[in-house]
Amino acid sequence: MRRPTKPYRSRKIGDRALSPETLMMGYGFSPHLSEGALKPPLFQTSTFVFETAEDGKASFELAYGLREKRRDEEMHLIYSRINNPNLEVLEDRLSVWDAAEKALAFASGMAAISTTLMTFLRPGDTFVFSEPVYGGTEYLVHNILPQFGARGVGFMAEGGADAFRAAAAEAAVLAAKTGGKVGAVYVETPANPTNGLVDIALARELSESLKGPAGRPPVIVDNTFLGPLWQQPLALGADICVTSLTKYVGGHSDLIAGAASGDASWIGQVAVFRTILGTMTDPHTAWLLLRSLETLKLRMDAAELGARKVAAYLQTHPRVKSVWYLPFLPKDHPDRALFEKQCKTAGSTFSFEIEGGEAEAFAFLNKLQVIKLAVSLGGTETLASHPAAMTHSDVPPDQRLRLGITESLVRLSIGVENPDDLIADIEQALGQ
Ligand SMILES: Cc1ncc(COP(=O)(O)O)c(C=O)c1O
Repeated sequence: MRRPTKPYRSRKIGDRALSPETLMMGYGFSPHLSEGALKPPLFQTSTFVFETAEDGKASFELAYGLREKRRDEEMHLIYSRINNPNLEVLEDRLSVWDAAEKALAFASGMAAISTTLMTFLRPGDTFVFSEPVYGGTEYLVHNILPQFGARGVGFMAEGGADAFRAAAAEAAVLAAKTGGKVGAVYVETPANPTNGLVDIALARELSESLKGPAGRPPVIVDNTFLGPLWQQPLALGADICVTSLTKYVGGHSDLIAGAASGDASWIGQVAVFRTILGTMTDPHTAWLLLRSLETLKLRMDAAELGARKVAAYLQTHPRVKSVWYLPFLPKDHPDRALFEKQCKTAGSTFSFEIEGGEAEAFAFLNKLQVIKLAVSLGGTETLASHPAAMTHSDVPPDQRLRLGITESLVRLSIGVENPDDLIADIEQALGQ
């Protein structure tokens, strides 16, 4: 593998640790290996030429783990399902943001989540998961993983530590009955779309308590709502951080991708599954993501500032019943301390309930002019959606209500427009 020379791998200048936003301009890429190109070129190739047959043999020995890497031995590129320079530079830069030893890029957030869970679950196993989770994950845990003999035990994020502990205990009992282990502790925090929080340190404590002969289950945290700037699950005790790069990291609503990051001991196992399932991203998407990463902090900072203004406006509007924006949690709310401990900011995606039901919510959505009516989040443009009728429509109605996803709930993802223009748009749509 064509490894960049030293300066491109250094995260320091003298004693000063360089900030992630600075490292996004050059870290992991050596121009001299690419004709002096300032930017990583697009390596749109499926396969790589070996200099000699011996090089080819050595590459496969390393890729398949047949022997240890020799001192100073460079691993050659082989085939773009296994490795590719665009993916490697991207993964180096993602690991900077997540403060991870290793990161892997995937074809989608769901590819990252499903590949990661399948890596650690076997027939007879159980796993613990928080609720609500993103609609696709909900389908995976309820409908797909059980077909492979892995059963999930869910708990409501709003149920706090007691609900989490009870689910872990139940998962252990079930696993003992089915001759398996508790294979994973899976948490989405903040939860989509309720912004319910789950204690990541408690997830780690429960994982430690579930340790069996095969080790302990990894704590996997979906960090899509706040990642990678506003929450660092690995520093809080998670083993694997999964993120839909489709959202803030891609940031322009023009690609689908995902990531998993963590210690090499966990991520190496996921890498094997990714190579064989073929769930990696492609070079062009990786190239687009490298471009997006250069402005990630600017975009996320602007969106977060805008969200603060829009949320404050909504809170005062007479037609708005409640605004599920984390800084508005009352001081005595159980999630308040968790928010302050885990999250650097509340991000820019939140929901609010309009007075009335589906008709009133739809009327509001249909009147918006600047804000686009679309699912997804984390893009430069502000999006509004109706979780009950859209992202969570395949969740049975009684379960939706249990999860707090009511007919009057509208989700907003604030972009980088002038927030006063967004407020003017919301005002006209609510006002008529
Ligand atoms: C919290 C969360 N996790 C995962 C995903 C799935 O990501 P992707 O659409 O990139 O597969 C989404 C998508 O909206 C999401 O909101």
